[in-house]
Amino acid sequence: MTAISLSAIEKNFGATRVLDGIDLDVSDGEFLTLVGPSGCGKSTLLRILAGLEAPSSGRVSIGGREVTEVRPADRNLAMVFQSYALYPHLTVAQNMMTPLKLRDLTFAQRLPFLGPLAAREAHGSILEQVRDTARILKIDHLLDRKPGQLSGGQRQRAALGRAMVRKPAAFLMDEPLSNLDAALRIHMRSELAELHRSLKTTFVYVTHDQAEALTMSDRMAVMMDGRILQLGAPDEIYSNPQDIRVAEFIGAPKINLLPGSLDKAGHARCGDMELARVAEDGIVGCVTIGLRPEHLAVCDKGAPGSLTGRVVHKENLGADIYLHVSVLEGAHRLVVRVSPVEGSAISLGQTCHFRRLHGQAMVFGKDGKRLGLAQPSTEVAEVA
Ligand SMILES: Nc1ncnc2c1ncn2[C@@H]1O[C@H](COP(=O)(O)OP(=O)(O)OP(=O)(O)O)[C@@H](O)[C@H]1O
Ligand SMILES: [Mg+2]
Repeated sequence: MTAISLSAIEKNFGATRVLDGIDLDVSDGEFLTLVGPSGCGKSTLLRILAGLEAPSSGRVSIGGREVTEVRPADRNLAMVFQSYALYPHLTVAQNMMTPLKLRDLTFAQRLPFLGPLAAREAHGSILEQVRDTARILKIDHLLDRKPGQLSGGQRQRAALGRAMVRKPAAFLMDEPLSNLDAALRIHMRSELAELHRSLKTTFVYVTHDQAEALTMSDRMAVMMDGRILQLGAPDEIYSNPQDIRVAEFIGAPKINLLPGSLDKAGHARCGDMELARVAEDGIVGCVTIGLRPEHLAVCDKGAPGSLTGRVVHKENLGADIYLHVSVLEGAHRLVVRVSPVEGSAISLGQTCHFRRLHGQAMVFGKDGKRLGLAQPSTEVAEVA
């Protein structure tokens, strides 16, 4: 079942078009990430889904019901922002109780002193739900603290808890981890993914951090300039980008992009490196070759189809070393991943030779679209 459906969404702010025809279906229980560079329209799309912003045109439906005109409070969605938006003067428990009180209690029952007396049972049930949620998030020992007495990660969990208590149809999250330090962000990635698995609720998650998108999502939509360029599972997006902008945005270190050429027979080459035969006929001339850092290996001088370059920088990340190599007469930089053992044998300034590993080149046409390759495995095996 489709939990959320956005169709033909357009959004203009004055004369500026920010969203340019977005179609997106999110399945029930899916973790879908909207990822893209700053300003590409991710938050605007999420706000339209939440009902905080109206689309200029297009339709939004949730659980099969059209909600384009429905106000945010009636969409049963929970939004978690980058700024946690917790009430500073209330404890964690009180913060988490607020949405339930607003939903389940009358005005009189919400009054500070009379309320709990008048509606003891309702208050007890709300507190019980808050405690259950806090246990899931491992913040049950923090319920009496105020936000100012919590660490960044704990505050983020309290904000999540406040969103969770209402048992929404879906969670909408806009860069919820970006205020945390690097180590905590990585830790919270796995916590969020685990939380999603245990809740089995739909998550729509916005980030500009491609690593977050790759590590947490079931599917990711790569957005640029108000459009979705590609939608797919993280593996698919990483290994099979259909557009050069997707290839460049996803992956760290970045994919190497080198100038190449296509001859009449469809052979793509870059310097001495013959890469593949492009399946599409009639395309001759300049192309761009995409090679990920892990898709190249050091080889002996004179190996057929190798590229030669000078090592200008070594980036040691412990488990891997990235060699930055100046190639094609110094006109381009190539980043190559090697093992620490290989890397330690290579010194700065040294001339090295690199070959492409089996089956791993991408060829992009002048318009930035990926070109299909003919018989990739057999042809590449000969070259490699
Ligand atoms: N209320 C507004 N009025 C005018 N322009 C706006 C408004 N809200 C957003 N924009 C513009 O719309 C574009 C998309 O903004 P949006 O906040 O959706 O980007 P984003 O992808 O979330 O970026 P970031 O990663 O920086 O948060 C930006 O160019 C922004 O300046
Ligand atoms: Mg944003």
